[in-house]
Amino acid sequence: MARHLITSAIPYINGIKHLGNLIGSQLPADLYARYLRGRGHDVLFLCATDEHGTPAELAAAKAGKPVADYCAEMHAAQAKIADGFGLSFDHFGRSSSPQNHALTQSFAGRLLEQGLIREVTEKMVYSNADGRFLPDRYIEGTCPNCGFEDARGDQCDHCTKQLDPTDLIDAHSTISGSKDLEVRETKHLYLRQSELKDKLADWIDSKTDWPILTTSIAKKWLTDGDGLQDRGITRDLDWGVPVKNGENDWPGMEGKVFYVWFDAPIEYIACAQEWVDAGKGADWQSWWRTDAGANDVRYTQFMGKDNVPFHTLSFPATIMGMDQDWKLVDYIKSFNYLNYDGGQFSTSRGRGVFQDQALELLPADYWRWWLLSHAPESSDAEFTWEAFQTDANKDLADVLGNFVSRITKFCRSKFDETVPDGGTYGPLETTLIDTLSTRLQAYETHMDNVEVRKAAAELRAIWVAGNEYLQEAAPWSTIKEDPAQAACQVRIGLNLIRLYGILSAPFIPEAAKTMLTAMNTSGNWPDDIAESLAALPAGHAFSVPENLFRKITDEEREDWAERFAGTRD
Ligand code: 2FM
Ligand code: ZN
Repeated sequence: MARHLITSAIPYINGIKHLGNLIGSQLPADLYARYLRGRGHDVLFLCATDEHGTPAELAAAKAGKPVADYCAEMHAAQAKIADGFGLSFDHFGRSSSPQNHALTQSFAGRLLEQGLIREVTEKMVYSNADGRFLPDRYIEGTCPNCGFEDARGDQCDHCTKQLDPTDLIDAHSTISGSKDLEVRETKHLYLRQSELKDKLADWIDSKTDWPILTTSIAKKWLTDGDGLQDRGITRDLDWGVPVKNGENDWPGMEGKVFYVWFDAPIEYIACAQEWVDAGKGADWQSWWRTDAGANDVRYTQFMGKDNVPFHTLSFPATIMGMDQDWKLVDYIKSFNYLNYDGGQFSTSRGRGVFQDQALELLPADYWRWWLLSHAPESSDAEFTWEAFQTDANKDLADVLGNFVSRITKFCRSKFDETVPDGGTYGPLETTLIDTLSTRLQAYETHMDNVEVRKAAAELRAIWVAGNEYLQEAAPWSTIKEDPAQAACQVRIGLNLIRLYGILSAPFIPEAAKTMLTAMNTSGNWPDDIAESLAALPAGHAFSVPENLFRKITDEEREDWAERFAGTRD
């Protein structure tokens, strides 16, 4: 039994996410966690909400709520959705937790001690009316380049020019509207990650088994230099982790907080502490501290490609810089984007299906199966309603669902709701066992390598093999001349349902549970196909389950396509 730590990138708190976010990180992480648990490993699977930064403050202001209340509500909303999709986190934490505050502050203190933090004096816009410095998104004005009146402090959304807040003409605070702004000097902390460049480069070079998507992004940032410039890790915001040196104040840093990207990955560790403090685990150190046993842990991170630079460079720089036996990630699985029907998912334009809406349309397994079997691994992928309808109907309803209902109903009508006795294996059964043995091995290899699409294709092929067997064996014909042989075929069919329940659980946990409950069994991961096809002996009682999957109709497809089209660009 091995120990596996798994984290999914922690989603921002500001709003319900679309399906692209789900397949970009949380869902494949869940697939892997479920698979490893199924194989009997010790798994700690963590995720949280990323609650700091300007987007959280702005979203709370828009909702007219104090930011702490807003975050608490949105955390509960995201937790409910995660639950709806069957995401089996051992803990779903919050980056605003006291544990993360304390840990982030202690990390900063240690990095200072290590000579890896320097103070930099910068010029920033200060609003007299608001009594605070204004970060980029809190300043708007006219773009000096194109004359667009609502350009933001960091960028003009009209001509896309990158701006400095001091470039804006007629700038005003988006908090109060005040134009009484001035440029003042203020101090910020910078993480001297450039010091760690060589060490990081060697570390990335040693990761020859990582997905190319991950290493190519990491290497590009390393060689372009941009990714490893010293990075500002403090901001002038109210909401966030107050800047402290461990438990002590940090002179000159009053009123400032750590930058959201500094404290967010530290939450991966703090989340394990939250897990323990919530009474769900015994100790977090053996997962995160190499001096407490974490050398035996394999740590896998999941994320979208936009998050790769922070996880391959910045966070490892933090961990290495601590020089204190913290666990470094072993494997980073990253994903491209999922697009929506010829364009992008867009929150502001209401384009695409959001996670809460998806769960109102269909049970989680439909989404899980489609998204995972189309995971954007080697390139961006595209969600279309046609593909969703075609694939779900074929794979889930026609292949798997139909198999289960056919064999259970046939058995009930001819033999009763117990596994029938009699018959012997012939060439068809031998071929089935061979095929499934080969495919099972391939399935396990793809899952071990976190090759999500390939694993899905193999699982589909395993379902298809059962269907083909049933088609050829045709117990509904056999029974006329040789009832004992038909009994043998049906017995294998029922055992296949059990096997499918076990093997499919990482992808479609609800349907898997229905299959196993109907077969009146639980079942461990198979070591040997022949053995597992005899696991339910003659005389074992089962029940005919409800239809596992219904078909998505053309009317539904058309209706949904129209409903989620949003306003096109
Ligand atoms: O892109 C995002 O949704 C970020 N909130 C991910 C943060 S992952 C981490 F480092 F914690
Ligand atoms: Zn412009």
